[in-house]
Amino acid sequence: MAEQEKFATLRWRNGKLEMLDQRALPEQCLYPTFDSAQTVAEGIRSMVVRGAPAIGCAAAYGIALEALRLQTQPPKSFADGLQSAFEILAQSRPTAVNLFWALDRMRAKLAAQHGSDAEHAAAALLAEAHFILEEDIVLNRLMGQHGGALLHDGARVLTHCNAGALATAGHGTALGVIRSAVESGKKISVIADETRPFLQGARLTVWELLQDNIPVTLIADSAAGLLMSRSEVDAVIVGADRVAANGDVANKIGTYSLAVLARLHAIPFYVACPLSTIDLKIASGAGIPIEERAPEEVTGYRDQRWAPAGVNVRNPVFDVTPAELVSGLITERGVVIAPDREKIARLFRS
Ligand code: MRU
Repeated sequence: MAEQEKFATLRWRNGKLEMLDQRALPEQCLYPTFDSAQTVAEGIRSMVVRGAPAIGCAAAYGIALEALRLQTQPPKSFADGLQSAFEILAQSRPTAVNLFWALDRMRAKLAAQHGSDAEHAAAALLAEAHFILEEDIVLNRLMGQHGGALLHDGARVLTHCNAGALATAGHGTALGVIRSAVESGKKISVIADETRPFLQGARLTVWELLQDNIPVTLIADSAAGLLMSRSEVDAVIVGADRVAANGDVANKIGTYSLAVLARLHAIPFYVACPLSTIDLKIASGAGIPIEERAPEEVTGYRDQRWAPAGVNVRNPVFDVTPAELVSGLITERGVVIAPDREKIARLFRS
């Protein structure tokens, strides 16, 4: 039986936010401290914390920290300071919609404090950030229950990037489905794509699965097709950074290629995400902003460089999988088989 993971992705200690530094994993478990919106935004931008739901939780704490920092200021300075905190955090990363969803929640909580003093408003914002964090774990467990039922005993599940406890407040989305299936007594083994260029699969997914004693095999991204063609993969499960109203899915670069391969080999391709990842304001995947990160992530890693200096590089870090390639969208409200615009609209009404 899988245990609850032994690490916290984000934790509140002594009036400050601590985040597990995912850049240092798996070699080191470091918990740097964050005390303002500015430092949290930098932590998100530089990938101390990453993964759509975890980014949303961090942003909520960024607003709470700023409110606590400014609570003794005159009302106008408090209001102006918070306004700029919302702007700074909104600029930290563009693709994961959970960031903007969490900021909207915090904005609504702040508006509801109209008429109360800054200290009460700051306390209410901190309570909301704690609530968003705790709620995320509950939603992941619900997704786990719904999605776990899709996996048969003995299933070999391929995943991409890290959609685990490290990408959320705990349990995970795609890895949460796997964890829940294991908890229900099924023997599940995982094939983890290394996930070039940032290596979330090799460094993070493998690390957290090993801690839970869930069997995992690491492969180069380009090995997925061979394994599928040899019937060594029973299902693919990934997370999502933003799902458009028609069911198109933005997720880590390489996800689209996997979905095409899965369709060719008649392997189910599932996406696990909470409703907060679905952006009804964007009609289709074509409207989802795709982040492009620094060329240095492609030309080398940490202190090592392998490509010739000055080479032209593109580094889009997400891609869009058309809804027609998605066998099922696993959410906290259930599994939407073959998602489309109508079924997604219905999901929000359910
Ligand atoms: O660039 P990252 O590491 O933030 O990208 C994360 C992903 O693409 C995950 O697969 C996605 O956020 C789902 S996380 C539950």
